[in-house]
Amino acid sequence: MTDVNQHIFLCDAERAAALGDELRAAGVSGEMSSGADGAALFVEATAIALNSDSDPEMLAPALAFARQSLPNAELFADASVNHIVRCASQAVIEACDDAGDWALHILRAEDADAPGPNRARLLRSEIEAQLKKRRRRLLRSLAPDDAPVDVSSAPTTLVQLYLESRERTWLSIVRPGAQASSDAFWRRCLSPWPGGLWQATENREPPSRAYRKLAEALEQFPWIGGGIGDVDSAGEGPPGSRGAALAIQAGDRVVDLGASPGGWSWVALQRGARVLAVDRSPLRADLMQHAKLDFVQGDAFQYRPESPVDWLICDVIAFPDRILELLRDWVAMKRCRNFCVTVKFRGAGDYGVLVELKNMLNKHARDFALRRLSENKNEVTAFGCL
Ligand SMILES: C[S@@+](CC[C@H](N)C(=O)[O-])C[C@H]1O[C@@H](n2cnc3c(N)ncnc32)[C@H](O)[C@@H]1O
Repeated sequence: MTDVNQHIFLCDAERAAALGDELRAAGVSGEMSSGADGAALFVEATAIALNSDSDPEMLAPALAFARQSLPNAELFADASVNHIVRCASQAVIEACDDAGDWALHILRAEDADAPGPNRARLLRSEIEAQLKKRRRRLLRSLAPDDAPVDVSSAPTTLVQLYLESRERTWLSIVRPGAQASSDAFWRRCLSPWPGGLWQATENREPPSRAYRKLAEALEQFPWIGGGIGDVDSAGEGPPGSRGAALAIQAGDRVVDLGASPGGWSWVALQRGARVLAVDRSPLRADLMQHAKLDFVQGDAFQYRPESPVDWLICDVIAFPDRILELLRDWVAMKRCRNFCVTVKFRGAGDYGVLVELKNMLNKHARDFALRRLSENKNEVTAFGCL
């Protein structure tokens, strides 16, 4: 008999259907059902079997609407807190003993009847108490509560408990850096942040809240460009296979299209980059004066750099097919090495453009992610390298 595994994908309630379409298009076969509040998609599949025509490494990042994934989740139905704590602690001991760092993310469903924060706190403290009795050293390798986990590094194990309702609790344990190809798939579906929800630190210095979108993208995908499936369990691989997270670095040349009032330019300047900002309107006055910023007043769709730049960053408000064509031109002509581009939608009717976007990036990008980030409204972020 084949084992049927249950996988959970957390998403925004309105986008569960679109996520189902994405999974089917990625070759994931099996039963899919949405949670009561629609914010979780339950996928029952014998295996996450990818479409044989496609490159498995490039398919998973194409799940734009999954903000977090819980692979191989085990259900505790009608179980007491004691029972869940005993089973979860035993599973943690088996998976994490002598296996390096681990993190425990306890996630709650979003609907009104879902268990409240007290139950989540109780479960955490009881699991910790059990481990203190049975394997005290595991508490030393446990990441601080709700801290992001390094999903690109081999020895980190991510333990997730999802409190769907009072009656139904799920446990998922995944070692994202492990070598099996299915783990490579999962590594690409995982967010470092609990439930995929990035936590912005309050900052009044940037000229707009939009800066958060770029800041989040730079933290959500630490595995991009670092190679997939070429890292052994000790976290070692061929030289360059564990490249540092894709980042805007000091000295990088960055083109910011649709830059005004300057949030994204501000992020790049903070990192020591040299920025060429293009917009119809000027940026905030202090940024216009910045020694490392040049401003071109004009049409973002017409601008082309004279020679390739390190980064294209683009937050222009335009129809999605125009952004697709703009990005296609930049990556196909190798005008940039890396990119972070938002694609904005008028409604679900526009989501079809994502299929073409994924095909285009599969063809031209060395590595990429496509995700509706916590800071994205009705838009997704395409992030990657050539
Ligand atoms: C969402 S805002 C960008 C916010 C910016 N990323 C920030 O962090 O402050 C979109 C910008 O795109 C600009 N824009 C829209 N169409 C444009 C075009 N064809 N050429 C240049 N800029 C354009 C608008 O003027 C606007 O400033």
